Amino acid sequence: MNCPTATTTTHSEPLTTDEFFHDVWRGLTASPKYLQSKYFYDEVGDGIFQEIMACPEYYLTNCELDVFSNKRNELANTLLSYFRDFDVVELGAGDASKSIHLLDALMKHEVDFTYYPIDISKNIITYLDKKLPAALPGIKIHGLNGDYFDMLEELKEISTRNKVVLFLGSSIGNIQLENTVDFLKELKSHLLPGDLILTGFDLKKDPSVILAAYNDAGGITRRFNMNLLQRINNTLDADFDLSQFAHRPVYNEQTGACRSYLESLKTQRVRIGEVGWIHFKEGEQIFMEISQKYTVQQTDEFALAAGFTPVRHFYDSKRWFLDSLWQCG
Ligand code: AVJ
Repeated sequence: MNCPTATTTTHSEPLTTDEFFHDVWRGLTASPKYLQSKYFYDEVGDGIFQEIMACPEYYLTNCELDVFSNKRNELANTLLSYFRDFDVVELGAGDASKSIHLLDALMKHEVDFTYYPIDISKNIITYLDKKLPAALPGIKIHGLNGDYFDMLEELKEISTRNKVVLFLGSSIGNIQLENTVDFLKELKSHLLPGDLILTGFDLKKDPSVILAAYNDAGGITRRFNMNLLQRINNTLDADFDLSQFAHRPVYNEQTGACRSYLESLKTQRVRIGEVGWIHFKEGEQIFMEISQKYTVQQTDEFALAAGFTPVRHFYDSKRWFLDSLWQCG
């Protein structure tokens, strides 16, 4: 029988306008000003991120795709050496273009798993529920739309099996270095002893290569950042004039922090709905996103500090990117 099942769980109120407003207001009234990068991913943002992944400067996706397409059997066999009976969870699944290779290998090994993609974007989950059963006939998929930890909590009601957690793309890089171990500890608190987690880390490399990935010549990353201002305009009835802000990415070779800012090109005020005004000085910046870069040693130290055991390193052929497999202690 060839009857793929696709179901979706939506968090009772995922990212209500209220929550969005609250976070935006808090960030824009803070000093220095900031916005949360998770809000990049509305329907338009999802599309722009697809363009980023396809642009020549953004090497991360190709590197990780190299790992997943060329080492899919090595990956699958390693997982199967730990347990045969498990479900696969993916944090921030996106279009699943990398994980699909591993899912395919697991199906060929006749592993009876359900794939639980978690994503902040409802649009993405709807897309995966449709696309994956078409690409991998017979796959069991259950999408979860919401924040990582809320969805992992809901997943406890649905699956009690061991988990293989995929956290790819260097999404972990959106977390500040000093908060990373706490994040991983919280993640571990949602897992069972023996569970496996495969995390993608973008490694430190030639600074000009890194900066170009966040400052592409086609201006796609600029549009990606600007789209969040547009989303605020659309959803919260604000009046950001996008032409009066500039995209400013910076990379600090010492710390490995690549940060994106939007810089006000003049002294100006922006109205947020009926609530009030946000004042900008000329040159004042909004911190939009961090994309942290790592050494391999740092990633092993994170694992140990958070109570995981590093199990195995999977590199791309250039050694620019690391997918590191850890086990829950
Ligand atoms: C999806 C978080 C891995 O930080 O590299 C790409 C997002 N931002 N270009 C990254 C992003 C600008 C991306 N992650």
